[in-house]
Amino acid sequence: MRWVEVSLPAEARGYPVYIGRGSLAELGRLAAEHGFPRRVAVITDTTVAGLYGDAALEALAGAGFAAELLVIPPGESSKTLDTVRALYDELIRKKFDRGCGICALGGGVVGDVAGFVAATYLRGLPWVQVPTTLLAQVDSSVGGKTGVNHPAGKNLIGAFWQPQFVLIDPDLLSTLPPRELHAGLAEVVKAGLIADPSLFSSLESNWDEFVSGDPGLLEEAIEAACRVKAGVVARDEREAGLRRVLNLGHTLGHALEAATGYRYFLHGEAVAWGMIGATWLSWRRGLLPDGVRMRIEALLLRLPKPPIPDMTPERFREHLRRDKKIVAGRLLYVFLTGIGNAVVEEGIAEEELLSALDYLRDLQRRHP
Ligand SMILES: NC(=O)c1ccc[n+]([C@@H]2O[C@H](COP(=O)([O-])OP(=O)(O)OC[C@H]3O[C@@H](n4cnc5c(N)ncnc54)[C@H](O)[C@@H]3O)[C@@H](O)[C@H]2O)c1
Ligand SMILES: [Zn+2]
Repeated sequence: MRWVEVSLPAEARGYPVYIGRGSLAELGRLAAEHGFPRRVAVITDTTVAGLYGDAALEALAGAGFAAELLVIPPGESSKTLDTVRALYDELIRKKFDRGCGICALGGGVVGDVAGFVAATYLRGLPWVQVPTTLLAQVDSSVGGKTGVNHPAGKNLIGAFWQPQFVLIDPDLLSTLPPRELHAGLAEVVKAGLIADPSLFSSLESNWDEFVSGDPGLLEEAIEAACRVKAGVVARDEREAGLRRVLNLGHTLGHALEAATGYRYFLHGEAVAWGMIGATWLSWRRGLLPDGVRMRIEALLLRLPKPPIPDMTPERFREHLRRDKKIVAGRLLYVFLTGIGNAVVEEGIAEEELLSALDYLRDLQRRHP
């Protein structure tokens, strides 16, 4: 099995991300090797429970674990303190004590909720993560960020809580709706753009296979993307500086998501548009040669995604201002200086970002 080590220098420890087709069956063996607690609450959502709940329980039981499923409704609307409270209630009712562990089986929502429960229930239980969406496999499961939304904003409540290990089985993606797969692919493209030119080339050469979910290619790309994220996280576990390169395309992307009420774009779709904007802005600032800009744009245009709907510049501006990356009134922005090279610069003007929105609109007209 492939694996990527996530090292956490601040805590003088690390953990592995195991990647392999069919590896869900190895969950119990790996948990035993890691000395994981014998009683396990597997937190998942109803969709994933129906598809992979039994396989996860069998893998754990086969290695001597007493495991049971705790199921939440699927989707972003479950990422709340109410869901967390319901899980605490169930854990208490079922007498899960300090000698137990949590397994998160699902997409980013399950990972964030289950991780937050693991971080806080009885002041913290060990946990493992089995991400089942491409987004979760390449992004949310590496880095230890957990948490839930608040009515005032996304991800406002949370904790850093690192798992004992992450287990990624690319075969689980075969049941993922294509739209979710494509949204996850945007984050894979991002990993290539910020740090891995050969990942980007592989996406370019095999794009149609990636879009149709080729599991062998996905396995390699997942490993490469996890390596990129692990590399960044290792150098900046708490997001002080360097980790911000992971936000490539996210300033415009978040504004597009927010301005459309989080109901129109999937996160990765908005980020794909945002990366086209960031690429164009990098070129306009003279940081990126035109030929490279066109290569990146061509690939991102091929990623299936809904068009940018009409919105007033005011509406867009309002959402740009709420972006969390504004530090002390100054907006930090991720630019590209080449494929595999990103830089974070302070002080981009709002007008510059609005001009990128105009550019995206124009591009959309030219490539309907
Ligand atoms: N913690 C982090 O660092 C981090 C990073 C990025 C995103 N996130 C969070 O991740 C969340 C989004 O995650 P997501 O895109 O995985 O969404 P999700 O967890 O809502 O999953 C998307 C849908 O796919 C279904 N699903 C999951 N796996 C499946 C499978 N193998 N087959 C069929 N269906 C499956 C789910 O039931 C759900 O309906 C957001 O809340 C975001 O804030 C967290
Ligand atoms: Zn993202």
